[in-house]
Amino acid sequence: MAESKNGFSSSFGAIMAAAGSAIGLGNIWRFPYICGKYGGGAALVLYLVFVFLIGMTLLLSELVIGRRTGHTPMKAFEALQPKRRAWRYVGLIGIITCFLILSIYLVISGWTLNYFWESVSGTLASVADGDFAAHFAAFAASPVAPIVCLVVFAALTLVVILGGVQNGIEKVSKVLMPVLLVLVLLLCVRSLTLPGASKGLAYLFHPDFSKLSWEGVLAILGQALFSLSVGMGVMIVYGSYIPKSDNLFKSAMWITVCDTAIALLAGVAIFPAVFAFGQSPDGGPGLVFNVLPVVFNSMGNVGSIVFGGAFFLLLAVAALTSAISLLEAVTAWGAEYLHKRNVSAALITVLSCVVAVLAAYAYEGGVLGGVKLGGMSLFDWLNKLTGDYLPPICALLTILFFGWVVKKDVVRDELSNGGTLPTRWFEFFYLVLARWLAPIALIVALVAGI
Ligand code: TRP
Repeated sequence: MAESKNGFSSSFGAIMAAAGSAIGLGNIWRFPYICGKYGGGAALVLYLVFVFLIGMTLLLSELVIGRRTGHTPMKAFEALQPKRRAWRYVGLIGIITCFLILSIYLVISGWTLNYFWESVSGTLASVADGDFAAHFAAFAASPVAPIVCLVVFAALTLVVILGGVQNGIEKVSKVLMPVLLVLVLLLCVRSLTLPGASKGLAYLFHPDFSKLSWEGVLAILGQALFSLSVGMGVMIVYGSYIPKSDNLFKSAMWITVCDTAIALLAGVAIFPAVFAFGQSPDGGPGLVFNVLPVVFNSMGNVGSIVFGGAFFLLLAVAALTSAISLLEAVTAWGAEYLHKRNVSAALITVLSCVVAVLAAYAYEGGVLGGVKLGGMSLFDWLNKLTGDYLPPICALLTILFFGWVVKKDVVRDELSNGGTLPTRWFEFFYLVLARWLAPIALIVALVAGI
């Protein structure tokens, strides 16, 4: 299956698609802020250790499971351990997580589309500096605009999936990922050439170990896991599309390098400008919808249109390639039962839009904003479940399966492409990282999350 028309046609295409999944909103609005908040260079070094040792181990394990079996998560677990079929429920947890994340992603991605449009049309340029928080709150709580945006975004995602793995996902990723790089570089140049840019660089990179609290260590670990899109089976599905002749270790390395590089560049594009215009650093929606529009407005009318437009396009592109991987994972799973890929894709898009509309209405100030369960709205619940709980649980079970249930020889065979690639690092990877370090890190992350 992996080498037929159903898979990626080249290593480059496969890496771009997987990097597209990994590079998402988190790289832009979460990583730089976490880095700055918890000690700059000190946090960065810790992040590099976590992402390359633990995140990449999880990524590689998912790619191996996917390519070895050529199946979507549920069947993949079953194929590797037919005797203990309960393992396939790990795959099911992953698929459910994908569906829920997709729904939340549609809402937020819709917001970015709206802000892209408001930037290039000049609407944002006419909002007064102090009014952005109110502007965003009014938009997010309105009954129609966010829904239209999320539906448009879902339609874009669906069109790519209907194009197929090679002609849809791979082709689009090969174009969009370089576009994303150009956009972030453009913003870096603008940001670095502003007077006072060095304060932002100091915030991001100056090592300050006194700020690296235990809470910070956990936030950095969580980001290292979240950033590579592991723990929901997406990388198992993409792994099943990777050509048999590719070196999986190299692919995982490239995906991790691209993901980390874009996260760092995003920080350089954002914080020097934030400090240059006297704004205070923030993360998440507060940063992109309240703080940054003020920064772009300070660049004058044209600056606001060009750089604001470039920034929100960057966000939308990052979100789109992630949404594509999420919809693909659930679509491929559904297609195993429905036997029709397109029907599966359309059905899942519609269902996901329904959940997304409910989530959008449940956002602060929305029609359903007052409906709470245990003090949290549906939006908050989805955020919490898909951020803090489900992915680490699923990743932990996956790595335990990989390290302790799947036969060592099977893993070695898959990583060495049947013994044709050198595997000097294999023992370290398998015995130290996959068996012990990664599971322990996930248990720590989970216990801390609760
Ligand atoms: N990695 C994405 C980011 O950094 C978020 C994410 C987590 C994701 N899991 C995913 C994206 C699965 C696509 C598929 O923002």
